[in-house]
Amino acid sequence: MQGVNRQVILTEKPQEKLSLANFALAEAEIPTPAAGEALVRTRYISLDAANRAWMQGVTYRSALNQGEVMAGGALAEVVESRDPSLAPGDIVSAETGWQDYAALPARRLAKLPKLEPLTHLLSVYGVTGLTAYLGLLRVGDPKPGETVVVSAAAGAVGSIAAQVAKLLGARVIGIAGGAGKCAWLTDALGLDAAVDYKASGGPGDLRRQLRGLCPDGINVYFDNVGGDVFEAALFNMANHGRIVCCGAVSQYDKAPPPHGPRGVPGLIVTKRLKVEGFVVMDFYDGRDAALAQLRKWVEAGQLKVQEDVIDGFENLPAALIGLLAGDNRGKRMVKIA
Ligand SMILES: NC(=O)c1ccc[n+]([C@@H]2O[C@H](COP(=O)([O-])OP(=O)(O)OC[C@H]3O[C@@H](n4cnc5c(N)ncnc54)[C@H](OP(=O)(O)O)[C@@H]3O)[C@@H](O)[C@H]2O)c1
Repeated sequence: MQGVNRQVILTEKPQEKLSLANFALAEAEIPTPAAGEALVRTRYISLDAANRAWMQGVTYRSALNQGEVMAGGALAEVVESRDPSLAPGDIVSAETGWQDYAALPARRLAKLPKLEPLTHLLSVYGVTGLTAYLGLLRVGDPKPGETVVVSAAAGAVGSIAAQVAKLLGARVIGIAGGAGKCAWLTDALGLDAAVDYKASGGPGDLRRQLRGLCPDGINVYFDNVGGDVFEAALFNMANHGRIVCCGAVSQYDKAPPPHGPRGVPGLIVTKRLKVEGFVVMDFYDGRDAALAQLRKWVEAGQLKVQEDVIDGFENLPAALIGLLAGDNRGKRMVKIA
């Protein structure tokens, strides 16, 4: 196919905070698919906190190295197929990286239903929604009347996890950065309370605020951030509480901290806590049922889907830097075509 394939290259791995200087725009030829492959055009590129974690080294995927096209997932459209399972016009989920076109093996392309709005396939019906739903139910297992605390609660995963916990009958407290986000969590999403960790006077103050809001302790803490916020929640856990270790965004965009959170492992022992990490794919046996339940709630108007769509390929690096700084509300993505 004739034309230009715009790409964003990770020119240098950040030592501390990610900046625009770590990226460069480039142009390449549009690749030609081999037998068994399809050529796809990216429509929406997903911005994920994990994009930054991949630059630190091996995670649940191989490390991202300098000089490579920036890695990332996308919703893409098949433009040419050399595999019988796919045809031009099909919408797929794919690890395309930050570029207009990619030629990928058909077995690595997941064909998706053509629903409207298409963006929901990246938010509530994508990895985001599945992570929130499956992580909360499989690890946290909240019971009606229990207290659930969610961090990065105004973000993509957090805003869904918090609402799902509410729908399951829990009392839910969100932690987020900024008064505007906190007001949105209580007024628009119906959470019982929200704490602005950026306005708190440090970890001790955050711990005290959580104690005031959770006098009987936290039964389930859905942790998206790690660090000081994790520590504040840990000290407020109820006996037999469950900590869902979903991610550690507070640690991704800086050098490793000199020490870990206090209370580990002592409080885990004395409070008989379950602390369990997961990667969403671990629970994909429950994927279809989860999607069906999420869809029911969305269609009934019980689950609000918040998306933050930025227009323009060239805005990808700034959109990721902004996500790590907390500029987003809900699922951030960049519209490419
Ligand atoms: N385990 C899995 O399978 C899986 C799958 C997907 C995502 N995840 C994890 O889920 C978490 C959320 O990811 P996402 O892609 O949905 O991003 P997101 O929550 O939409 O965006 C990240 C948010 O993190 C918050 N944040 C940034 N720095 C922080 C800090 N130092 N302390 C507290 N909060 C901070 C910001 O909100 P504020 O304004 O509130 O600071 C920002 O909006 C990440 O930890 C990610 O790695 C895990």
